[in-house]
Amino acid sequence: MGRLIVVSNRVATPAQTKESAGGLAVAVFGALKGDGGIWFGWSGDVVSESVAHAGPSLVLDGSVTFATIGLTRKDYDQYYRGFSNATLWPVFHYRNDLAHYERDEYAGYRRVNAWLAHKLVNLIRPDDNIWVHDYHLIPFAEALRSESVENRIGFFLHIPFPSPQVLQTIPPHEELVRSLCCYDLIGFQTRNDQLAFHDYIVRNARGEVFEDGESARVEAFGRKLRTGVYRIGVFPDEIAEQAARYENRQHVIDLEQSLEGSKLIMSVDRLDYSKGLVERFHAFEQLLEREPEWRGKVTLVQIAPPTRSDVASYKRIREELEREAGRINGRYSGLDYTPIRYLSQQYDHGELMSLFRESQVGYVTPLHDGMNLVAKEYVAAQNPRDPGVLVLSIFAGAAGELTGALLVNPHDAAGTSEALQRALSMPLAERQARYETNMEALRRNNLGVWRDSFLRDLGNVPKPH
Ligand code: G6P
Repeated sequence: MGRLIVVSNRVATPAQTKESAGGLAVAVFGALKGDGGIWFGWSGDVVSESVAHAGPSLVLDGSVTFATIGLTRKDYDQYYRGFSNATLWPVFHYRNDLAHYERDEYAGYRRVNAWLAHKLVNLIRPDDNIWVHDYHLIPFAEALRSESVENRIGFFLHIPFPSPQVLQTIPPHEELVRSLCCYDLIGFQTRNDQLAFHDYIVRNARGEVFEDGESARVEAFGRKLRTGVYRIGVFPDEIAEQAARYENRQHVIDLEQSLEGSKLIMSVDRLDYSKGLVERFHAFEQLLEREPEWRGKVTLVQIAPPTRSDVASYKRIREELEREAGRINGRYSGLDYTPIRYLSQQYDHGELMSLFRESQVGYVTPLHDGMNLVAKEYVAAQNPRDPGVLVLSIFAGAAGELTGALLVNPHDAAGTSEALQRALSMPLAERQARYETNMEALRRNNLGVWRDSFLRDLGNVPKPH
């Protein structure tokens, strides 16, 4: 049987795939360990041209080879900071207002895809299956095909796929979709994302789509491929065990003591404008404004480690968030009370899970999100005897599965603050019933199901040539 080759923009280190990692890293590593394989992608370093060209560097961990490669400053600027994160990311999250488009950056994006593909070719054996991840690598299969690679190549999009009208704001939209069609199987997080892609194929590309439930055959741009919906999950029992194990650590005890009996709302996100952080602070402010009895009795802990801080829109969201946290705290703090504790730092995964377990509410309100694994981790980390309540945006992919959450529209501050109020006052029996409903969904569709169903469908695709 062939090996698996996973390609993603970032590659976890062998250490990160173990104890402290969450989500994707655990699943990908699990899949690779089985029959052995390669995890290929950017090392996360910006390096000189000669170092970049000497790559990839190979680290063997058991049967898995971590093959990573550095990017030059120009490649980083055009491919990662530019087209991936200042064009594709905002548009795919429906924030055309924050997107910019530069021809040179797009050319750099394609050039880096072609170069990475070229670097991978020598590592590929004829019976390997190749699984490529996320928006950074849309043209990757096309680049491999032009190097005469005939293996099966699948693609999973971790973020939303926008409706055609929104996608068309990216000038080379047609070329991008044409490139996507060089994959043999494309996986989406939700049915909505899949339908948006089909819509483009039928209406813009004059292709054909033959649906069979959530699996479909697509013919477009002279290519035949398949699409499917694969909802990414977590391993809930492992998270529950991790959260319980970290429960008596000093950081949890310190937090508990400092809260002095006040209730705890927890939020954890990368500091990204798609996460709805400012809207979230405003809804929390409304709770304090409209329900004065909560003042001094509820604390929002927002953990938001900065990412992509060299992209202009990320600098702006950070400034705005800091300003709003300061303003709200100025208004409602007491000498012994701070309503919002805003921490722009990275925390260990186990510590976060134990903080989730400690809290009464998980507050996850993105404006658009492919799935949102934090929502799933929040549920899994709860103590079944005294679970917290998840307040979740209808615009997170996870909302389709976590029907036990209180669903909110993050643009509706009044509605969201009412949901917070309800969550904070919810009786134990209702909390337990909602928790059970959510846990059932997490167990039914855990991370292993996501990985195995995608790889099974990829394995069933006829070899392209
Ligand atoms: C999102 C994307 C991932 C990406 C991650 C971290 O979850 O879907 O592909 O790896 O953000 O972003 P960064 O730019 O730091 O790699």
